[in-house]
Amino acid sequence: MAGGSRARPRARLTGVGGYVPERVLTNAELEEMVDTSDEWIISRTGIRERHIAADDQATTDLAAEAVRDVLRRTGTDPSEIDLLVVATTTPDYVFPPCAPLVGTMTGMDSVAAYDTNAVCTGLMYGMAQATGMVESGIARKAVVVGAETLSRIIDWEDRATCVLFADGAGAVLIEADDGEPGTGVVGVELGSDGSGRNDLWVPAGGTRTPVTDDTPRADGCIQMNGREVFRFATRILVESSQRLLDEAGLTIDDVDLLVAHQANERILEHASERMGIPREKVVMNLDRVGNTSSASIPLAMADALDTGQLTPGDLVMMVGFGAGLTWGSVLVRWEPRA
Ligand code: COA
Repeated sequence: MAGGSRARPRARLTGVGGYVPERVLTNAELEEMVDTSDEWIISRTGIRERHIAADDQATTDLAAEAVRDVLRRTGTDPSEIDLLVVATTTPDYVFPPCAPLVGTMTGMDSVAAYDTNAVCTGLMYGMAQATGMVESGIARKAVVVGAETLSRIIDWEDRATCVLFADGAGAVLIEADDGEPGTGVVGVELGSDGSGRNDLWVPAGGTRTPVTDDTPRADGCIQMNGREVFRFATRILVESSQRLLDEAGLTIDDVDLLVAHQANERILEHASERMGIPREKVVMNLDRVGNTSSASIPLAMADALDTGQLTPGDLVMMVGFGAGLTWGSVLVRWEPRA
């Protein structure tokens, strides 16, 4: 390259953090609420318990806790953050977005802050945006937080969905680094297919079908075609990650850890078997947290860090999928702050 030109920074993933509300909802409690059983839930989903926000907690409260956690773990002062992205499908309000509120709650002064919504793929889209901004020089240190209070849009009379979804928040820190290319965020693959919009959706509450006095309560809640979503999820998990590996000139054997959206243990088992990645390289914490949508992948990362499953230098394949339909994979070399 001609003298005087500066190498572009690369985006490095240096920290993860998470938060789940105190209140634990067990399968035994769900047995009291709908016609289900602990045995059915565990055998079909792998979920044993999940966390539910307190009445006075909303999405920004959960997000702020996750942001504080990632800042604390990485020894980062809030003033160092110049980009804050909140990925959520359950914002506190139609507007303002959550991110400016979370920035103020966590002591970030004048931070660039906005929300993004790609439902369970939200963290992947948010990480892609932050990577682009860091690598183009727009931002130096970005926090992307996925946060959801799904309990507010669950139909607690629908046994097919109320056993799956839960509340939580997870955050990642992405920062500029002038080191070797081919490390840090190695690659990104994103996609969508709007023809599957009715497979997983909340029919009412948007501008197409506003909620009125006549709206059935269930229409303002999550509705799902479980079998169709299952088929989509197992297929796209394999395809998206394979496309990304091909682009990077790598194979599944190069991957140290698969951190996929924690929707269902059976989805992860089917997909990992088809991918040819051994069970011990697949992170699973859904038994304790359920499906927390955009919070799911960073919460699983934080869990893997705490259990020692995630270690410095690991090549991590993160894969999200969900409503939209949307999907996305981010391949990163885990390089925590020394
Ligand atoms: N407890 C007991 N029975 C239940 C139940 C529950 N919580 N939920 C559904 N059932 C019943 C159904 O009513 C059905 O009964 P029927 O045969 O009398 O009609 C039976 O179980 C089988 O239903 P089916 O939907 O075929 O079960 P499944 O094996 O496909 O499992 C899911 C259902 C939801 C666990 C599964 O489809 C799934 O995981 N899909 C993906 C969902 C997901 O991950 N969504 C989020 C993606 S981001």
